[in-house]
Amino acid sequence: MITQAPRIVTSRVGLPDSFTLERYLATGGYEGLRKALSMAPADVAAEVNKASLLGRGGAGFPAGRKWSMLRKATTTYLVVNGDESEPATFKDHMLIERDPHQIIEGTAIAAYATGVELAFIYCRGEFALGLERLQQACNEAYEHGALGAEVLGSGYALDIVIHPGAGAYICGEETALLESLEGKRGFPRIKPPFFPAAVGLYGEPTVVNNVETVSNLPWIIAHGGDGFTALGEGSSTGTRLFALSGRVEHPGWFEIEMSKTTFRDLIYDPSLGGGIPGGKNLRAFIPGGVSAPWFGPDQLDLGLNQDAVGQAGSMLGSGSVVVMDSDTCPVRAAWRIARFFYRESCGQCTPCREGSGWIEKIMHRLEQGLGREEDIDLVLDACDNLSPGLAWPPKQTTICVFGPSIPSAIVSVAKMFRDELLVHVKEGSCPFPPDTVRRG
Ligand SMILES: Cc1cc2nc3c(=O)[nH]c(=O)nc-3n(C[C@H](O)[C@H](O)[C@H](O)COP(=O)(O)O)c2cc1C
Repeated sequence: MITQAPRIVTSRVGLPDSFTLERYLATGGYEGLRKALSMAPADVAAEVNKASLLGRGGAGFPAGRKWSMLRKATTTYLVVNGDESEPATFKDHMLIERDPHQIIEGTAIAAYATGVELAFIYCRGEFALGLERLQQACNEAYEHGALGAEVLGSGYALDIVIHPGAGAYICGEETALLESLEGKRGFPRIKPPFFPAAVGLYGEPTVVNNVETVSNLPWIIAHGGDGFTALGEGSSTGTRLFALSGRVEHPGWFEIEMSKTTFRDLIYDPSLGGGIPGGKNLRAFIPGGVSAPWFGPDQLDLGLNQDAVGQAGSMLGSGSVVVMDSDTCPVRAAWRIARFFYRESCGQCTPCREGSGWIEKIMHRLEQGLGREEDIDLVLDACDNLSPGLAWPPKQTTICVFGPSIPSAIVSVAKMFRDELLVHVKEGSCPFPPDTVRRG
């Protein structure tokens, strides 16, 4: 169902000067922060808890609960994750470029609620324009008095540092991000401790939240947690940004009400994806980023609800939906995902460092028609070494979930498209039309 939900995080992105302080103030900017500062920090956190705001970075952990886990200490930090480097995920990039003040305000609200006085926004280094606008917004926020020694004259002090990443996907994983922030190589940290809320940046308790997660906070404080839970259903409340790509008429990002909108709405509705070009049939879609198991046409009527998608065997993850039509070679798609993981593996854990390379090689030869039938079991065996049992959610043999995410696409192809894999083997070539992207 397409609903008339308000646009919470994208209310000003269509305006040509959406990123300026002037426009931000003219459209209610910093009012959520002002209201938060008039409340006790615990009440701000309680409001966010009530909103059931699920993290938008991938794991979907409730923001309020995460904040409550912050270990009591003299120094605590907040880190906002704007690394966004996953293929097909492009919603934070847009928020960073078009509404950087909303991120600054959301960061300030989260920092106030958790008692943090120094926050960092870690922004993917390749977002040149985004970094420029984020830094500009940060400077303007200081001049406006929304940051600094007296945030909006309240007596609360907050500094925000904008930090560029250097171009590694793994630095989006929160503990690798903290290492990178500390100036070290972006290697995920050994767990336990499982959460940076216990031991985080410089060994101090740290909250890590995604850019879109904090962008919701000004609206939640202005409209109350109840206003947010009035949208969506169950624990999937509010709206969410989805990045839609692949074989659709209108690829792009869409902010839609959670739970009530279905994948079918997102892909086919003329106001959203607009359907598949040329009236072709849907072959499969990835419901939540390249780490997620794939869905077929049978799952089109699932609502965009975290629990429902989880129960159906996948995840909403980073909110990117990739559509494959009847002309898309699923083997090629899985190989290209495997290639991405192979290139981006940080190399710290042997199953991931070595396994990603084996999986990429076997998938490549299968896609090129140079594979053998037994390669299908061989690649699944390599996947099983990374994630024993090939179940969902995946079991882990590595320090972080990067490695166990690699099998998702491969297992999906083996389960859903075994016939297509066998045609590649029997014909000695790929039966699908070539795509326009460089291969090899
Ligand atoms: C390999 C990998 C890459 C990740 N990349 C990102 C990212 O770019 N942005 C992000 O917010 N979270 C990313 N995450 C999830 C973070 O570890 C973390 O869960 C998230 O930033 C927490 O914010 P949230 O609770 O607001 O979602 C990644 C996780 C993994 C394992």
